[in-house]
Amino acid sequence: MEKKFYDWSWSDVDAVVYAVAKDEPVCEGVKEIYAALKEKGMFEEKAGEMVASMYQRDGKICDVVFVGGAEKVDKKFINGLAKAYKYLKGRKAVKIGFNFKNVVDEDKKFSRVLGELFTMTDYIFDDYKTEKKESTVKEIYFKNYDYDEKLYKEGEVLGEQNVFARKLVNEPANVMNPAKLAKYAKEEGEKYGVEVDIKDRPEIEKYGMGSYLAVASASANDPKLIIMRYKGNPSSKDVLGFVGKGITFDSGGLSLKPSDGMKTMKCDMGGAAAVISAIIGVARLGLPINVTAVVASTDNMVSGTSDRPGDIVYSMAGKSIFIDNTDAEGRLTLVDAVTFVLQEEKATKLVDVATLTGAAIRALGNTVTASVSNNDELFGKVENCFHDMNENIWRMPLFDDYREDLKHSWADIKNIAAPGMQGAALFIEAFVGDTPWVHLDIAGPAFADKAANIHGDGATGAAVRPLIELAKKL
Ligand code: BES
Ligand code: ZN
Ligand code: ZN
Repeated sequence: MEKKFYDWSWSDVDAVVYAVAKDEPVCEGVKEIYAALKEKGMFEEKAGEMVASMYQRDGKICDVVFVGGAEKVDKKFINGLAKAYKYLKGRKAVKIGFNFKNVVDEDKKFSRVLGELFTMTDYIFDDYKTEKKESTVKEIYFKNYDYDEKLYKEGEVLGEQNVFARKLVNEPANVMNPAKLAKYAKEEGEKYGVEVDIKDRPEIEKYGMGSYLAVASASANDPKLIIMRYKGNPSSKDVLGFVGKGITFDSGGLSLKPSDGMKTMKCDMGGAAAVISAIIGVARLGLPINVTAVVASTDNMVSGTSDRPGDIVYSMAGKSIFIDNTDAEGRLTLVDAVTFVLQEEKATKLVDVATLTGAAIRALGNTVTASVSNNDELFGKVENCFHDMNENIWRMPLFDDYREDLKHSWADIKNIAAPGMQGAALFIEAFVGDTPWVHLDIAGPAFADKAANIHGDGATGAAVRPLIELAKKL
């Protein structure tokens, strides 16, 4: 599909999207139709609202769609545009003209948003469907907006990386195992100059990653430790460490999940997909920063060699861990990855991303990333990046009372502490030390039951764009 910024006219297109702002006049051509729609109460100029109509001119019939909220480039308005675009695809539009005369772009981000919008909205997970819905759209034109080409291109990269993560997560677990994830990371990473190092079981054993290996012990698939390095600032010793939870399927292990909770558990490598895709995005944008991403990938299965509730294992950091529940497997893999990125990769700042707890969803719902941090400055930057990318984030507290709860009489630490989301974060904190750290629990936003306007049902690519933006802001 081709996208062009030029002053299109009605004869160039077969569908029009008109962005409207409250009480702002629209162009001469659509004035009457717009007034009629408003008068009939079909459109109230609300942000994100969309109304579709048809328009005849010079013997040609055009679809016309009005989208409200152009007074501010925010989530509602962007979703409205995505909705209009999807509607017109459903109408089999071939050439769509957008009129952005009324767009107020105070933060100068609309160019980026446009780059992201179509890439993100176009992707649907239909790889396994015999009949695929081919898009008829060939050309998209924008007018009346003074766009910034560099930002627009950056938006396309951000959108493509969001989609890459979604593709990884949407692959079912019978296809996406640790070896496949490692292969995708290597192939895609090396395309863009990211160094990718994959470590197999013997090496993982050599590092003493007993916590990670406990989770991997049931699986017929070998674990893969994925390390990706991008050196955008070789003269600096600073390294931004990304750690992603890479459980390609979470059955719960012997602490088995009920089937209903299990059937979406291919999404449990959503954190891994986010960091793998984000570091590639950082490389594609050529940002002047060093980043290392580490994923300790495995699935969490049931077999005669499973780890058991009650087992005591040694982590790479040397701490002994009492496995209270095998379904709290994410943190067991994450802490060895955290130790690896700190000890071996000398990360100076750390962000971990994980579909970690059902408790995060119960607390904040399905669209919010639950976060904790030991560093206000780093958290502030991460929070800003989420806001810039129109993703929701909320910081949760870390109270001493619950630190006590992690202790166990037979081991240094146990893998469950109340309350759920903070307990999981505190477990990771115990391995982080003083390094500035932000923990992102994306259990809610990583995977959607229902299609939203900008993404289909299934994976959403949550956190990918904020992480790339963070690398830019640091
Ligand atoms: N992968 C799950 C968390 C999850 C739940 C992600 C729902 C996405 C959607 C995690 O490994 C898990 O099972 N957590 C348990 C922890 C409990 C056993 C302490 C949970 O949250 O129930
Ligand atoms: Zn689990
Ligand atoms: Zn899990």
